[in-house]
Amino acid sequence: MNSKRYIRNQVKEALDSLTDEQYRQASQQIADHLIASSDWKASNVVALTISRGREVNTNQIIQLAWEQGKRVAVPRADFIEKTMTFYEIKNFAELEEGDYGLREPVPNICPIVPFDELDLIIVPGLAFDKDGGRLGFGGGFYDRFLPKVKVKTIALAFSCQLVPLVPTEEHDQKVDDIICPTGFVR
Ligand SMILES: Nc1ncnc2c1ncn2[C@@H]1O[C@H](COP(=O)(O)OP(=O)(O)OP(=O)(O)O)[C@@H](O)[C@H]1O
Ligand SMILES: [Mg+2]
Repeated sequence: MNSKRYIRNQVKEALDSLTDEQYRQASQQIADHLIASSDWKASNVVALTISRGREVNTNQIIQLAWEQGKRVAVPRADFIEKTMTFYEIKNFAELEEGDYGLREPVPNICPIVPFDELDLIIVPGLAFDKDGGRLGFGGGFYDRFLPKVKVKTIALAFSCQLVPLVPTEEHDQKVDDIICPTGFVR
């Protein structure tokens, strides 16, 4: 879909122009809002991806989850089946470089976390709108996975990732909440 590609390019450009300081500060502000939220406090098993490039930094969030006694589940993607399996990681050494340079859990040492054990999902994505519309990275992984779980979904987004309207197709799944540096915007 062309309009999806257009927004992906626009947002990627805006993200690339963030300075290191802006990236650090905004990531910290977003993490602070998440950690103060009632959904975070109420959750024991949190699903997250390992951020890279100009994605909102999830490393500090994961570290804090461990310190607070939460379990952290990270997906491993199967690019043939287009599915994800979540594994519990207890430290960052349990990650390896998977397909497409993603940092993913090592399956032999990490236990699988069944979908029904997840109680909060931090959903990655490139762009979002205030209606919860979401533009991912183009694999359809979360669009396939989210209908299988019925738990709270939260997206973390820099201000430039919040766009007036994300073009969506029937298969696209919305997120429940969105946290920007200024706080919850949805
Ligand atoms: N539930 C589904 N069943 C079958 N195909 C799907 C489903 N969801 C998405 N797809 C297909 O996956 C491809 C990518 O979808 P889309 O552009 O929405 O990805 P995305 O939302 O950016 O990805 P992701 O969910 O991994 O972040 C499209 O070709 C779409 O048709
Ligand atoms: Mg989609």
